[in-house]
Amino acid sequence: MSGAILRSSAALLGAVLLAGCGGEGPSAAPPAAGLSAQAQAGRALFFDRTLSASGAQSCATCHVPGRAFTADPATDRGLPVPLGGRGMDLPGFRNAPSLVYAALTPAFDPESLTGGFFRDGRASSLAVQAQQPFVTRFEMANADAAEVVMRLEASPQTLAAFTAAYGATVLSDSAATLARIGEAIAAFETEAPQFHPFSSKFDYWLQGRASFSDAELRGIALFNNPGKGNCNACHPSARQQYSDHALFTDFSYDNIGVPRNWAIPANSPDPVSPVSGVPLDYVPAQAGLLSDAPYAYYDLGLCGPFAPPATDPAPRRTYGAGRCGLFKVPTLRNVALTAPYFHNGNAADLHQALQFYVTRDINNNQGNNPFWVPAGPGGNPYAAAGSFFVNADGSSALYQYNDIPLAFNANVNVGENPYTPPTFSGGNEPTLTAAEIDDVVAFLCTLTDGFDPDHPSAYSVPAQCAPQAR
Ligand code: HEC
Ligand code: HEC
Repeated sequence: MSGAILRSSAALLGAVLLAGCGGEGPSAAPPAAGLSAQAQAGRALFFDRTLSASGAQSCATCHVPGRAFTADPATDRGLPVPLGGRGMDLPGFRNAPSLVYAALTPAFDPESLTGGFFRDGRASSLAVQAQQPFVTRFEMANADAAEVVMRLEASPQTLAAFTAAYGATVLSDSAATLARIGEAIAAFETEAPQFHPFSSKFDYWLQGRASFSDAELRGIALFNNPGKGNCNACHPSARQQYSDHALFTDFSYDNIGVPRNWAIPANSPDPVSPVSGVPLDYVPAQAGLLSDAPYAYYDLGLCGPFAPPATDPAPRRTYGAGRCGLFKVPTLRNVALTAPYFHNGNAADLHQALQFYVTRDINNNQGNNPFWVPAGPGGNPYAAAGSFFVNADGSSALYQYNDIPLAFNANVNVGENPYTPPTFSGGNEPTLTAAEIDDVVAFLCTLTDGFDPDHPSAYSVPAQCAPQAR
């Protein structure tokens, strides 16, 4: 794939000379000091709700700064997917990922199957990605680029910042203007310090300027231990080629068999908006599913149903059956702030996410599971907790991995810790005990940015960081 990547080009333009030209922007926006004119325009665009058809939604509505730039279910009626659209009544399909450190994502590489933007890597650059929400029906919902330009022209401060960076002539070509809008936002996400602070307790601990508690020390050891958490295998805790810092993702793709989340409206038969009741006629038809697949819609990551944007200059190919259900490994930096978890938000908190990992292949229904072990002395200690894999009515699903058609079950990673099926015959336990999960969670919470080595006691992490094991 060619390197036609726009991501960093805007960042190289005269940062110092042009700083200060862009107007103040909305008060919610972080300071603009030191940003290039392009990034200042991007900042104004990022926070401008008037650029949406509803007038109620900007990028920041679904990427809230105080939540590491993820969505807030509290403002989406508790849904694990954001609401958008002209009437703010249309649910999306996926849990919004953090944008902090997103600019360090490499371009999609078909050889190593790494990188790319969105959870399925379908946008080739940050700039291509940033154009999409403006014209997506269940997000900012403009009909086309021309409608975006019309709204930009009606928003004086954002328009001033935009024309300071790109001039006014580009506005006559709406496709070119939307492309510049994407570049500006990419420059903001690349340059602005709040997108790459590296100010977590973990970062200061590495420098010897913070000390870990016993639980945090045990947690990082379990995280890195191939025989225990093995988290490090996909969420590396040491730096790689992408940055001078550890990013806690190798940007690879994997299918970890996350259960179907019935709280996502698109997952129901005949889905309707939970707000207005209108039918969700934009739920994509799934091509190529076997006729015995029980549901009409599945989110299968690399193999669809979402295709690369039509205007992407370097579109990735759409993958076939062997890649169905694969999603990009997300960073774990700031993960304590970003509940719920996984592409479909199926885990409500970190403890649940970890319990899922280590009991995935034992803590489920008897149905089709060769590893299932009944409760009882020497038996499955998790059987009583019930299955993670449930039907819409809460009953146990007949098949495990119930968010993937059976035909693609072979794509689920069963060969690696932490989800290698334990054999209870030898009395084997899941790779992490409940107390060890507490320790891993304590460590994950040290990845929260905002540690001040001069005031360590001022560092606060969410309630979910506390131990839960008795
Ligand atoms: C209605 C909610 C919503 C709005 C508005 C929205 N996003 Fe998102 N964003 C999401 C969701 C959901 C995803 C994941 C979608 C997917 O993977 O297909 C996402 C993914 C992303 C990603 C990919 C990150 C990665 O690691 O690959 C970036 C970058 C991003 N959004 C930036 C933006 C920008 C910039 C805007 C404004 C132009 C914006 N978003 C507007 C919900 C939203
Ligand atoms: C073989 C690769 C692999 C291993 C090993 C692995 N993960 Fe993951 N992890 C992933 C992938 C892929 C996803 C995204 C899955 C999805 O969205 O469906 C993910 C998602 C997560 C998430 C959700 C993050 C978010 O923002 O939604 C957490 C938390 C997490 N992993 C923690 C861990 C921990 C802790 C361990 C070790 C116990 C671990 N992972 C081991 C591949 C891996």
